[in-house]
Amino acid sequence: MSATDKKRELPKQFVIQLGKLFQAYRMYPPGTRHVQDAAARCAEIMREFGEPIRLTLVDEDVVVEEDVLYPVPTQLNKILSSFSTLEWESMKFDPKLGVAGLIEVLDHIAKGEPGSYITVGFIAGSIQIVEEGGDGEDNNVAAGYLGILPMVQEMMDEIANGRRGSWMRAREVTRLITSHIVAGEDLFSPILEMKDYDQYTFTHALNVSALSLGIARRMDLPEKLLDSIGIGALCHDLGKTRISYEILRKPGKLNDEEREIMNRHPVDGAAHILQMEESISPLVAVIAFQHHMRMDGTGYPALKVSQPPHPAAMMVAVADTYDAVRTVRPYQKNAMDQHAAMSILLKEAAANRLHPVFVSIFARTLGLFYPGAKLVLNDGKEATILAEGEYDVLQPLVEIGEGGEIADLSLPGSPTIVGVIEGGEPPADPWE
Ligand SMILES: [Fe+2]
Ligand SMILES: [Fe+2]
Repeated sequence: MSATDKKRELPKQFVIQLGKLFQAYRMYPPGTRHVQDAAARCAEIMREFGEPIRLTLVDEDVVVEEDVLYPVPTQLNKILSSFSTLEWESMKFDPKLGVAGLIEVLDHIAKGEPGSYITVGFIAGSIQIVEEGGDGEDNNVAAGYLGILPMVQEMMDEIANGRRGSWMRAREVTRLITSHIVAGEDLFSPILEMKDYDQYTFTHALNVSALSLGIARRMDLPEKLLDSIGIGALCHDLGKTRISYEILRKPGKLNDEEREIMNRHPVDGAAHILQMEESISPLVAVIAFQHHMRMDGTGYPALKVSQPPHPAAMMVAVADTYDAVRTVRPYQKNAMDQHAAMSILLKEAAANRLHPVFVSIFARTLGLFYPGAKLVLNDGKEATILAEGEYDVLQPLVEIGEGGEIADLSLPGSPTIVGVIEGGEPPADPWE
């Protein structure tokens, strides 16, 4: 058999091995040797093939890359029926998935919850979602969002591999996100919904980009700058593509050495962006470099002479912090709800770590500060919003306590808001 023929056989071998792995996974506890050995064999074939392996299910046919698998090996019966429960018609397995990644994908398959699924090195869903990015006629509010997601994955892979033309793709994705926001389409709902699992890098990149652009658009910035902010936000965690899956998804706290590796991602990301041959706004690298730096000089990377981060990096920091606490992480059982997440941002702004103006604009984007909203003030008292702040949503007219005094938080020396207990209702449009 020639070397090319041998390579062509690898994807098929992978799929059959995956079927065996799933059988082992169903029979034995995940940590046992049967499961680990079967997963290691799968990972080995993926590594040898060296490229993502595509598996497509069309009616009764199992298509691996371009080849139909016929007859379908019996070892695949169980996993194929699980795929149909999940409504997965197309899957892409990247070699970087590794053993831990494969086990995580199996954990998700075993849950049997239908719908598309994306994680580092793996994407699955209906054929439209994976291949074409969703059809425009779908009424589902998440369709626009899910449609962009595979493009984000392709784009990040391209950038991580230094492929030419990848910035064009990043710009395309950014413009697409902006067009959804401008058209008033509900791109934020899927982001604001509770997330029950961590889809990690791609959803995070898309969320942070959409949320940062939400802030930037309210500031009437020129389109070129919006592009750079959107692309910078999409690529802010690019340096994490160099971190092993084991550290990235480690349950429990990282040790000092692992923390050091993790904290290198802003530097690695910025270096990678600057090393690419095509020209891109330096702001994209600045955002990647500074997104964990804080206004008070804390955060990382630590500079010899501390300087305040670029405003664009501070906008992205607000969106990044929000999305991070809203997402379930391996070390954090429950994601915070919107109000708790917003309270974190308010506290960070009060401590001068996040920029209060961007937090305020972000708060308006989320619509959490309407009349009726219940707040916590920095003097520990509770307050209810009576009327929206005219210039700043974080400085409304409030009633302190129940039937207590009325206070205008825009007046100098007023208490500041440090928490949200309950969101209010948007006022009815008088023109409707
Ligand atoms: Fe980061
Ligand atoms: Fe991030």
